[in-house]
Amino acid sequence: MHNTQKITADLTWIGGSDRRLALFENVYPIPHGISYNSYLLCDEKNVLLDTVDSALHHQFFANLQFALNGKPLDYVIVNHMEPDHCAEIADLLRLYPTAKIVCNAQTQKMLRQFFALNLPDEQYLLVKENDTLCIGRHTLRFIMAPMVHWPEVMVTYDETDKTLFSADAFGTFGALNGNIFADEVDFERDYLDEARRYYTNIVGKYGPQVQTLLKKASTLNIARICPLHGFVWRENLAWFIDKYQKWSTYTAEEKGIVIVYGSIYGNTQNAAEILAAKLAQKGIKNIKLYDVSVTHPSYIIAEAFRVNTLVFAAATYNGGIFVNMDNLLRDLITHNLQNRCIATIDNGTWAAVAGKQMREEIAKLKNCTFIEPHISLKSALTETQITELEMMAESILETMN
Ligand SMILES: Cc1cc2nc3c(=O)[nH]c(=O)nc-3n(C[C@H](O)[C@H](O)[C@H](O)COP(=O)(O)O)c2cc1C
Ligand SMILES: [Fe+2]
Ligand SMILES: [Fe+2]
Repeated sequence: MHNTQKITADLTWIGGSDRRLALFENVYPIPHGISYNSYLLCDEKNVLLDTVDSALHHQFFANLQFALNGKPLDYVIVNHMEPDHCAEIADLLRLYPTAKIVCNAQTQKMLRQFFALNLPDEQYLLVKENDTLCIGRHTLRFIMAPMVHWPEVMVTYDETDKTLFSADAFGTFGALNGNIFADEVDFERDYLDEARRYYTNIVGKYGPQVQTLLKKASTLNIARICPLHGFVWRENLAWFIDKYQKWSTYTAEEKGIVIVYGSIYGNTQNAAEILAAKLAQKGIKNIKLYDVSVTHPSYIIAEAFRVNTLVFAAATYNGGIFVNMDNLLRDLITHNLQNRCIATIDNGTWAAVAGKQMREEIAKLKNCTFIEPHISLKSALTETQITELEMMAESILETMN
């Protein structure tokens, strides 16, 4: 049965949620599910903005058919070619064979790679930066947003109602729970962490490209943002845009400390816990500890984007860095993390190399400062090393001012 929601008199949300999928992109755990948003704008011409993941096949077509209410589907705007939004295009064209596809040249090429559609060229309306499409009362403008996830991404701006259809930008992990507007929930309390995890892991690497999009968007009068995942924004836009501003410039949101340890027998963990306790005793309240083998890296990446100071503590493993820490550090480098203060602790019983190797990896992060001293454990903490931990805590304290 259809389940649609009105956004304005002529704009309808026709998406849905998936709460069964374990891993988004087969990588990121989504314990609260995910929504795939699709929008139908009805005017003299009726326009569909993106489709959904194949998991929502039946719900999507029931929604579309209901929202169209017997009217023809004239245009399908493809803002993003990734299959979580395009999976239904082939079936869509079987049901609505005269609908015209509005996309850029790169999207057209990808569409032809993914699907054997064999559409005549006339069925594509190819658009470039700032091209417009008038559909009656509404005029839609197309703005390219390359690498705001994929290279072909564009966003669509409805000049009439001031709605920005932002593709993956401004999305959030998590299924929708009835409410589709961010102002209807306590977003900061209940959804910000997942919005950060979504952004940092999915597009965190492409900060400069997100900056380009934000600059273009700043010239538009935006009343409403309709992303492809999560909530529709119609209030408090500046607050959420400011988060994107910080994340895309690799600026910490707050002063805080995230300690991540990779420990086999518990001795490296012991040092990490004692350091955290010392920091707490110095009055610091914003401290989080993570076991790199227990917490999925996507959560730690998000945390690394949130705070300004990080501690990595790891045992040596087969002449290298403890495997899960090694993986996390590579992931952080891939995601382009910058501008952080970083302390390191390592451990080894016969040939400790994790410290040296961690520092070599971390040195690849732009504009990151090492916090001294580095601490090297030889199996277990000694009394004298408690003094080193005390010195490290003092140095970390300075990064909190
Ligand atoms: C599979 C494996 C490989 C290891 N490789 C090394 C190594 O190459 N060099 C080293 O000094 N210690 C190595 N170790 C030992 C640990 O790094 C060392 O015992 C360390 O003190 C453990 O710290 P933890 O108590 O935090 O687990 C290895 C341990 C395991 C289980
Ligand atoms: Fe995407
Ligand atoms: Fe997506």
